[in-house]
Amino acid sequence: MNLEGCSIVEGSTELFVPSIISEKGPGKIQGRVFFNRQMAFNRDVSVALFSSIIRPRKCLDAMAATGARGIRICKEAKGDYRFIINDRDSLACEYIQKNIELNGLDNAECVNSDLRCLLAGEVFDYIDLDPFGTPIPFVPAALQGMSRRGTLAVTATDTASLSGTHPGKCRRRYLANSQRSPFLHESGLRIMIGTIVRMAAQEDKGVKPLLCYYADHYFRLFLKVKDGAGEADRSLAQLGFMSYDRNTGERKVGEGEIGPLWLGPLMDHESVSEVNVPEGLACQERTAQHFEIWKEELDVPFYYETNEIAAMLKLSPPGREELIEAMTSIGKVSRTNFSPTGFRTDRPLEEVLEAFRAACRSCQV
Ligand SMILES: C[S@@+](CC[C@H](N)C(=O)[O-])C[C@H]1O[C@@H](n2cnc3c(N)ncnc32)[C@H](O)[C@@H]1O
Repeated sequence: MNLEGCSIVEGSTELFVPSIISEKGPGKIQGRVFFNRQMAFNRDVSVALFSSIIRPRKCLDAMAATGARGIRICKEAKGDYRFIINDRDSLACEYIQKNIELNGLDNAECVNSDLRCLLAGEVFDYIDLDPFGTPIPFVPAALQGMSRRGTLAVTATDTASLSGTHPGKCRRRYLANSQRSPFLHESGLRIMIGTIVRMAAQEDKGVKPLLCYYADHYFRLFLKVKDGAGEADRSLAQLGFMSYDRNTGERKVGEGEIGPLWLGPLMDHESVSEVNVPEGLACQERTAQHFEIWKEELDVPFYYETNEIAAMLKLSPPGREELIEAMTSIGKVSRTNFSPTGFRTDRPLEEVLEAFRAACRSCQV
């Protein structure tokens, strides 16, 4: 049977994909085999990490659809690794097989299995979960099939449940309380990490973010997973609660009703600073700019929104340069990839407000 579809190029990889595909958004499912062009940036980040700091031997793209991610990594990131590219849908596997052949890959193999069966019998150093919506039902299988020191990569598109829009769903799925706030995607991401930390601890495994972020309509997590009760305890020690007062803007970390969530760093700065973004990516400029910001981003939860503070003080937001200058005069400040108008600082709120007023004054002169 002739496979229906067309060839496209993403990065420097040729991909044969169905003619009806998702262009953007949280993957409104179009047709039986899924491909979303907007996820090219997500796949670029995977290629960049594999090119520099993720060095596994045996890898699993567990929910591969057309195989786009695993195939791009195999084609674009040099390394001594092998990929199993798996999907439980037999039609998806026809696309995967075709894409392996189109790109002449000898380090990739297509498998047609339910990931839970596959992971019950084999161990991998890198496992990628990319489901429709929440990844939580698949995490136990991934933890079971993870080597003693491995990397778990997870995409989650159910950002609304994690970020306070559906608090009941968040409680049921993630056993955590969420709340809407100006930094909703950061708290959502931290709830997601916290849930995986708790699941891993039940298996005496510790979890540490290599790089976790929010983009477009999804959360993406690269987590280092290590065996050991001590590792699990150290990860659990970084969980906690926080509160947000919408009248004063105050974020209190360590106490409150939002959580449990991960309060540790969202990335391993030492490793991320070693990433050299390779040439030839699909979203070259965007990927390079994100890594530039990640390398400088402060590890301080939770970021502020310029508009949030301007509204609280009943002032027009200052220019970006003036704001950064005023904040730098009181302490550390950085941009954040969570929002183009967001910033992080290590100073308490009252000092942030004072510096913000100063930035507004300097904009008026
Ligand atoms: C969002 S798509 C994956 C997209 C893909 N990673 C990409 O980059 O284009 C989710 C895929 O997971 C597959 N899937 C769902 N449940 C599965 C399971 N239990 N085992 C293996 N594959 C599964 C679906 O058939 C679907 O192709």
